[in-house]
Amino acid sequence: MEKVLIIDFGGQYNQLIARRVRSCHVYCEVKPYTTSLAQLRAMEPIGIIFTGGPNSVYLEDAPHVDPEIFTWGVPILGICYGCQLMAQALGGQVVPAQEDSAREYGKTLTYYDTSCKLFRGLPGQGVSWMSHSDYMSKVPEGFALTARSDACPNVAIADESRGFYGVQYHPEVNHTEHGIDMIRNFLFEVCHAKGGWTMGDYKNTAIAQLREKIGGGKVLLALSGGVDSSVAAALLAEAVGRQLTCVFVDHGFMRLHEGDEVERAFAPWDINFVRMDAEDRFLTRLAGVEEPEDKRKLIGEEFIRVFEEESKKIGAVDFLAQGTIYPDVIESGAGDAAVIKSHHNVGGLPDYVDFKEIIEPLRMLFKDEVRQLGRELGLPEYLVNRQPFPGPGLAIRIIGALTKERADTLRLADAIFREEMARAGEDKRLSQYFAVLTNTRSVGVMGDGRTYDCTLALRAVTTSDFMTADWARIPYDLLDKVSARIVNEVSGINRIVYDITSKPPATIEWE
Ligand code: XMP
Repeated sequence: MEKVLIIDFGGQYNQLIARRVRSCHVYCEVKPYTTSLAQLRAMEPIGIIFTGGPNSVYLEDAPHVDPEIFTWGVPILGICYGCQLMAQALGGQVVPAQEDSAREYGKTLTYYDTSCKLFRGLPGQGVSWMSHSDYMSKVPEGFALTARSDACPNVAIADESRGFYGVQYHPEVNHTEHGIDMIRNFLFEVCHAKGGWTMGDYKNTAIAQLREKIGGGKVLLALSGGVDSSVAAALLAEAVGRQLTCVFVDHGFMRLHEGDEVERAFAPWDINFVRMDAEDRFLTRLAGVEEPEDKRKLIGEEFIRVFEEESKKIGAVDFLAQGTIYPDVIESGAGDAAVIKSHHNVGGLPDYVDFKEIIEPLRMLFKDEVRQLGRELGLPEYLVNRQPFPGPGLAIRIIGALTKERADTLRLADAIFREEMARAGEDKRLSQYFAVLTNTRSVGVMGDGRTYDCTLALRAVTTSDFMTADWARIPYDLLDKVSARIVNEVSGINRIVYDITSKPPATIEWE
C-alpha cells in the first residue's frame, strides 16, 4: 500500500495535514520527529511532509531530523517550520524576521509561479494563511523561489530535480485558497501517488485481517453507543459474528431513547448483545456527589465494575476490543499537554478483565473516516452522525446533585433542543450542542402563579478538533422556539439561558 509519512514537529494543524492527504485517497501516517530514521525508512514512503511547529530552527534545542533523510530520493514537502528546517539543513539560512519585513500572520495575498509542479494548474495568485515570525534569509543552493507575497520574497522554494518543496504558509487550512490542490499536486505530480485508498477497500481488508487474527476466539467489546465503539462493533460483527459479545452499560445518564436506538442498530447482526440496566446502581453510588471530578471518577470506576461482573459471566475472552481512533494514538512531537479533565472513556478497562490481547480495529482512522466506515457497514445515520457524548453522560451536564428526577428533566429538555436543532438543519453545521441543567433556581410566573424553578443552559459550539471551540451563532427565532417548548413541556424549568463563551476560556462541557 502506498504511504506518505508526515513528520510531526509539534504544529497545531498536523492532523489536518493527514486528513487532507487521506481525502486525496492516499494513505498516510503521522510520526513524531523523534522516530528513528530506520523506522521511517522501513515504512517505504512515497513522499514525506514536514509539519509546522512552534520553535525556531536556529535555536539550539529546536527539533531536527537526521539530514540523511534528504539522500533517500523521496520527495519532501516542508510546511512552515518544516520548510525552514529543510532550508537550514540544506545550506540555507533562517533568521528572526524584523518587525517591518517578513513576519506574517493570517491571510496574505500570495503570488505563485505556476510552472512549479506544486502550483501547476492553479491561479497565479490567491490568499494563503501565514503564521511565521522567522524568515529564510538565504535560500539553499539548487532551490528556486516559487512564491512571494508583498512583504516577503521567499514564501515558497523548490528544488524540483530532487523533489524538495517548501512553503511558509499552511496549505492544509481552509483559509489558504487552493491549499488542498497544492497538497494534491505534491501527492500526484511530485510523488506520483496512484490514490486508490478508499473506505470500501479498508473495510474488506480490515475484516479479512480481523478474521485471521481472531480465528475461533471470543471477543468482548464495551459498547457506549458513541460513533467509535459502534463502528468498531459493527466491523467485528461483520468479521466474526457470534464470537463477539457487546456489553452496553446504561448508567442512567444516557440521552432520551439512546439505549433502544443502540440496540436497534445492532439487531441486523447475529451477535451476543448484552444490555445492562445499571441506573439504580449508579444513582446509589453517586448520591450526594456534586464535585465534577468526583462524579467522573466514580462513574469510571463503577462502569468498570459493572463491565467486569458482566464479562465474568461470559467467561474468559481472548480479545478485548476497543474503539480507539487515530487522534487518540498519535504521538505528538511536542510533548504532553496539561490535563484539564479526567476523561472517562470505556477504553480504560484492560486491567480488570481477563483477556489475552487488545484489538483496536479503528486505530488508524480519523473521525470522519470512522463515520464513513460506519456507513459502509450499514449502520444507521443516527448512530454514524452522532455528536460526541462524554463517557459520564448527562451526569456532567447536571450541575450539583444527581437524582433520577433531575436526569429525567434534563433528558427531556435536551431531546427538545436536539429535535429543534435538527429540524432547523443546524445539526449539519454545528459540532456539538446540548442542554445543561444548572443548580440555579429563580423566580418566574406561570399562569397566575409564582414559580421557583431551575435554570437550564443551552450550549452549541463549532470546532474542528474540540481543543478549541467557538460558541455557535444560532438564530434567535430558533432559540425562542426551543425556550418556549422546554418551559412549556418540561416541568421544573422556568428559565433558559444560552452559553456564549468560547473554549478557551470555558470548556465545551460544564463539568
Ligand atoms: P471539554 O469539556 O473538555 O470537552 O471542552 C471536549 C470534548 O470532549 C468531550 N468529553 C468527553 N469525551 N469522555 C469522552 O469520551 C469524557 O469523559 C469526556 N468529557 C468531555 C466533550 O463532550 C467534548 O466533545
